[in-house]
Amino acid sequence: MPYYASGPSALLWAICIFLGFGLAALAGDTPCTLHHEGNYYNLNPLKASQDYEFETPGGHSFYLNVCRRVTTDPWSTGVPDNVDIAGLVRKDHHDFAVGLVNTTLEMRGTELMLHLSNGSPCPGENNLYGSSSIRFLCDPSVYGAGKPMVISQFPEDDNQACQYTVEWRTHFACPTGERGLISGLIVFLVIIMMIFLMLLVVSSTLYNRFVLRKRGFDQLAWFSKVHLLELMDFCIELFRSTVDNVRSSGNRWARSTRNLNPASHQWSSRDEEQAMMAADPLEDHDRELQGTNV
Ligand SMILES: *[C@@H]1O[C@H](CO)[C@@H](O)[C@H](O)[C@H]1NC(C)=O
Repeated sequence: MPYYASGPSALLWAICIFLGFGLAALAGDTPCTLHHEGNYYNLNPLKASQDYEFETPGGHSFYLNVCRRVTTDPWSTGVPDNVDIAGLVRKDHHDFAVGLVNTTLEMRGTELMLHLSNGSPCPGENNLYGSSSIRFLCDPSVYGAGKPMVISQFPEDDNQACQYTVEWRTHFACPTGERGLISGLIVFLVIIMMIFLMLLVVSSTLYNRFVLRKRGFDQLAWFSKVHLLELMDFCIELFRSTVDNVRSSGNRWARSTRNLNPASHQWSSRDEEQAMMAADPLEDHDRELQGTNV
């Protein structure tokens, strides 16, 4: 049984490394989130299946979405079809794209900003394209998504307008804890478990088919009692050897720090091997006692 120790511990290392990468990816720059001075902001809940609709000062419809392209069909915007328009104004004779999707949030002063650029060509201008700044204001009293409104536009005339400033009061702009990280981790773990389960099903099916030469539905009967017991045994063994490995490396560390003799920091490969193989709690306990006697 102790021989299991190196196999599963390699497996565990693999899982740990995998988890580490997953965590790093989660903690890294998730789209539409921002870490700023110990606060965490997340605008992803504002992504909507139907665009937010409000009006420009001149009474034209403004369609806006957050962190995703508009769901409204753009019409004659003058931007290529394959780009993601973040918002548009339905002007008299065409749609005007107020900018492309940008998932990078910015904190300016105390305001959470989203900058959109590269929209439709500005009327009567060369090399100027529609852009907008969306200012998200934390307002805990706004329970729903809230409603954006145009604060200013330039030029002021509705049909000439090319740069927009939009203000949006919503509780989604308030700093939150890192709940997203924890739930992300849980989702990640569940996915890993499902992958392992799938591998198990596939491999046992293959085993049934090619080794036991079962056919038809028989090859799917992997969850027999024997298999289940084997699986449980394996899991218990894995768990025990892990605990023992952790304990013995803990002991090794404790002993090497207790000993002031520098030579004792060098562990012979024999010691190393014994420690690695330590699967028997009693044996381990004995060694621990010997260790304190040194
Ligand atoms: C996206 O937003 C960031 C932060 O405000 C800004 O620096 C960047 O220029 C924007 N990118 C585009 C393409 O608008």
